[in-house]
Amino acid sequence: MDVDLDSALGGRFFAPGEVWLIGAGPGDPDLLTLRAVQALGQADLVLHDALPGRAVLRHVRPGAEIVAVGKRKGAAPVSQARINARLVAGARAGKRVVRLKGGDPFIFGRGGEEALACEEAGIRWRIVPGVTSGLAAPAAAGIPLTHRGTASAVTFLTAHGEDGALPEMDWAALARTGGTLAIFMGLSRLDELALRLLAAGMAPSTPVALVAQATLPGEAALHTTLGTCTLDARRAELPTPTMIVIGQVTRVLADRVRTTGRLVRHAGA
Ligand SMILES: C[S@@+](CC[C@H](N)C(=O)[O-])C[C@H]1O[C@@H](n2cnc3c(N)ncnc32)[C@H](O)[C@@H]1O
Repeated sequence: MDVDLDSALGGRFFAPGEVWLIGAGPGDPDLLTLRAVQALGQADLVLHDALPGRAVLRHVRPGAEIVAVGKRKGAAPVSQARINARLVAGARAGKRVVRLKGGDPFIFGRGGEEALACEEAGIRWRIVPGVTSGLAAPAAAGIPLTHRGTASAVTFLTAHGEDGALPEMDWAALARTGGTLAIFMGLSRLDELALRLLAAGMAPSTPVALVAQATLPGEAALHTTLGTCTLDARRAELPTPTMIVIGQVTRVLADRVRTTGRLVRHAGA
């Protein structure tokens, strides 16, 4: 039987004129995939987000052009349209172009939009999946997203809709699943989020973990509850980026994971 191996995951050969959308993982360079490291070593042009730090970028070959296109304090953000245009222009100039993104490009990373832009311009693109913070942040805090008898489903959601506000969702359905919620981009809207979930029927005692800067030197986890999380997060002055994990799974190992040198706070529970 013939199998079409020309999938978007592709092979290892990075041809001139291609765009590779690469997930850099949650921050720790050890969590890069081998394919990401190989591609960074072959790229001619790398457009990167704010999060993949210097330790990740050191895999880029000397002489390659490296351009920061992520949000930076005090600088105007580079629009998605401009990023798309640069990807296409680089590829048309015959360069091997890497678009390096935090976590996984296809999880709240706009990787789909960039792939579409390439597709529409007739540019060959590939994807190199990365370890999403939706998996890595709970893992760093010792939280199994699913656990037999505790949670048999997990939902990834964003608190940042297209217009910047909390997106419209069936909150009651989310509350009813009894599964785990892993919420991206939610720290600044934690009060609103908590109110929606409480109004949807979740108990105020539902355990919540806020995992900040997972796998980075500032990693910190705060264990709290839905009823008290807003106040606790404010008091703890947690840094960003932060992943919000809601559900009973946050308690499965919480009392055992107390790695020295890391802030693991338990509040309000
Ligand atoms: C624009 S989204 C990008 C997500 C990314 N594509 C991924 O798969 O992880 C940014 C959000 O991801 C989460 N995040 C990214 N890196 C993180 C980290 N190291 N620790 C905790 N949360 C992180 C935060 O919720 C942050 O607001």
